[in-house]
Amino acid sequence: MLAPMGTLVWVELDADAPGHNLRELRACAGEGVKLCAVVKSNAYGHGVEQMVPLLDDADWFAVNSLDEGLELRRLGVSRPVLLVGYVPLDRVGEAVGAGLSMTVFNAETIRALAGACGEPGQEAKVHLKVETGTGRQGVLMEELADFVRLVHSTPGVILEGLSTHYANIEDTLNHSYAEQQLAVFDEALQLVCSLGPRPPVVHTACSAASILFPETHFDMLRAGISVYGLWPSRETYLSALSGSGPVPDLVPVLSLKTRVAQLKTLPRGSCVGYGCTFKTSRSTRVAVLPVGYADGYDRSLGNRAYVLVRGQRAPVLGRICMNVVMADVTDVEGVQLEEEVTLLGRSGDERITAELMAEWAATINYEVVTRTSPFLTRKVVRGGDDPRAGLA
Ligand SMILES: Cc1ncc(COP(=O)(O)O)c(C=O)c1O
Repeated sequence: MLAPMGTLVWVELDADAPGHNLRELRACAGEGVKLCAVVKSNAYGHGVEQMVPLLDDADWFAVNSLDEGLELRRLGVSRPVLLVGYVPLDRVGEAVGAGLSMTVFNAETIRALAGACGEPGQEAKVHLKVETGTGRQGVLMEELADFVRLVHSTPGVILEGLSTHYANIEDTLNHSYAEQQLAVFDEALQLVCSLGPRPPVVHTACSAASILFPETHFDMLRAGISVYGLWPSRETYLSALSGSGPVPDLVPVLSLKTRVAQLKTLPRGSCVGYGCTFKTSRSTRVAVLPVGYADGYDRSLGNRAYVLVRGQRAPVLGRICMNVVMADVTDVEGVQLEEEVTLLGRSGDERITAELMAEWAATINYEVVTRTSPFLTRKVVRGGDDPRAGLA
């Protein structure tokens, strides 16, 4: 199959998968629990502009930074947007102006918001993040009461949410640490409720918690990796299989593809690539691919990964260059110039998963997809793996 013309390296997004994954997550949650799709970091590398229209069923979106939140507004998103990262003090007014909900954990931010809510009727919606044991953003329990009083006494600041984040819920089959964190959070919620009305949006659950522990759901799931059809970890999958709840059928959204830029036969004993780290041990048909670590194809994949051509595995030869990769297609019959090559995703009966790529690169599936270059063309594909079949 030939690749779409004019594009050398591209991302394909399965148009149906995100909606399907959201439905699978909803099946894990109780009635009335809202679903917040985490689309930070360019929608985990998938492309936020292309992903947002595929996530019509999400009630909320979460991003990390103010600029990402403003980008969602520019894209026409009118649904609630939560910023989970830090907003600089001199820019909190922009968050208020754009109606973005802010995660707060510093008294300085609340004081800055007082200045930003100068106009009558202008509201700053804040989600107070509690430190329950992850050791990153969050208000310590011993400072919580004072913090809540400060929020309640600051004109224009509305305590819309209360949240926390789990430290190791995806890392282990033993969830006692997450249970401890939940117990601290329950205490925090009680304290907050004793000082004022219950915040309407209480949320703690990332993907693993959403799938495994209904008691973490409260009012909203804050799901990232599972929305993109990937499991948070093997441990999460095993825990789900051995639990009593539904096991979501997650469908990966992203594929990464390129096409052959040159074919040549190198004699036995030829070096391939920088550093001459690969030497042919037979006459070798080499496909030169116009993709590299600049596109997010990790340099550590050199001499380790394979790509898929015509549904067959073609080993990567030598180091990954900034913009070039070489693959051995000696055993793949009839490969042509400009033929499609799958770096991540399915080709025929073969599939290179983000998990396999993560194993090759000694990282996690989150990083594999998130590091996909934002400069690549994103094609939204519906129905099968012909890239020209349903481009949106
Ligand atoms: C605060 C917060 N909530 C939710 C998520 C989503 O986590 P996951 O992708 O595991 O669902 C993240 C991801 O890093 C996060 O930082």
